[in-house]
Amino acid sequence: MSDAMIVQEVATRDGFQIEPTFVPTPEKIRLIDALSACGFSRIEVSSFVSPKAVPALADAAEIFSGIRRRPGTTYVALVPNPRGAERALAAGADEINLVASASETHNRANMGMTPEASIAGFARIMETVRGAPVSVNATVATAFGCPFEGAQPEDKVLAQVERYRALGVDGVTLADTTGMANPRQVARLVARALALVGPERLTLHFHNTRGCGLANVLAAYEAGARRFDAALGGLGGCPFAPGATGNICTEDLVSMAHEMGVPTGLDLPALIALSRDLPRLVGHDVPGQVAKAGRPCDLHPSPPLRAA
Ligand code: COA
Ligand code: ZN
Repeated sequence: MSDAMIVQEVATRDGFQIEPTFVPTPEKIRLIDALSACGFSRIEVSSFVSPKAVPALADAAEIFSGIRRRPGTTYVALVPNPRGAERALAAGADEINLVASASETHNRANMGMTPEASIAGFARIMETVRGAPVSVNATVATAFGCPFEGAQPEDKVLAQVERYRALGVDGVTLADTTGMANPRQVARLVARALALVGPERLTLHFHNTRGCGLANVLAAYEAGARRFDAALGGLGGCPFAPGATGNICTEDLVSMAHEMGVPTGLDLPALIALSRDLPRLVGHDVPGQVAKAGRPCDLHPSPPLRAA
């Protein structure tokens, strides 16, 4: 298996969905084009959800028509229901990411329906997209814990993975929606999920809500996972999960990977430069650390030293 890590950038979706200030559409398009130039093989661009539920992403279709498509980059759209899938197809998304929670309470808060109803909708979506030039990923949200219900049994999470597989999806994501996972839990669940779907088809989506984000990445990587979601600057969070905070930070993840000798194919200095511009876009400081500290190799001039 390759050592390389595949990082899917989600700042313009998971990141902007929770921002109280609407980031203007041209700024979003500029950012996505700049992210494409950083070398991402995958960018989750936006969501085709109800604009009443997530006003911050109401411009998803305009964004898909405004971005420059870099050859080799898959542009992904989050989709909650058949209506969202139709909109995503019409907008030319390369991949749709279907989302349902393991937890019934979170799914009802987030999607206004039971997980059962969400998955019934996904079955209809699979019929619609058959033969269309679009791939399908499906996410198990709250896979490592729910802010309302607490721990979710591993068997329940894996049963949802199996249902997604039975629908014929191309990939599956396990999402730690509110950063409840710990590294040992991650190692266990990832090992079991990899036995079902394999490393080319499994993505991990971690939030750093409790400071375990990169520890969880390492645990998943050591267990054999290679694909991770991350958001520039550590933006992100589900608007329908109390206390939600940012995704793991892209440039922090990429810095860690490169320091460990794990290739990502990404241009870290360019990512850092983009991250440093985020406070202008969102109007507040962002959690990422490497953009503040610089890379480990970005050394400082020596202060004047006394004779030894
Ligand atoms: N895109 C755009 N509009 C949509 C839509 C979609 N995918 N699905 C439904 N709508 C519209 C309906 O047309 C209806 O509009 P109206 O009020 O003008 O008639 C309205 O949204 C409500 O539709 P309804 O089918 O009753 O759904 P709901 O109110 O129960 O909402 C979802 C269900 C799934 C659409 C909504 O909960 C949602 O968009 N959730 C996404 C949450 C999210 O993005 N979370 C973070 C990422 S995981
Ligand atoms: Zn998320």
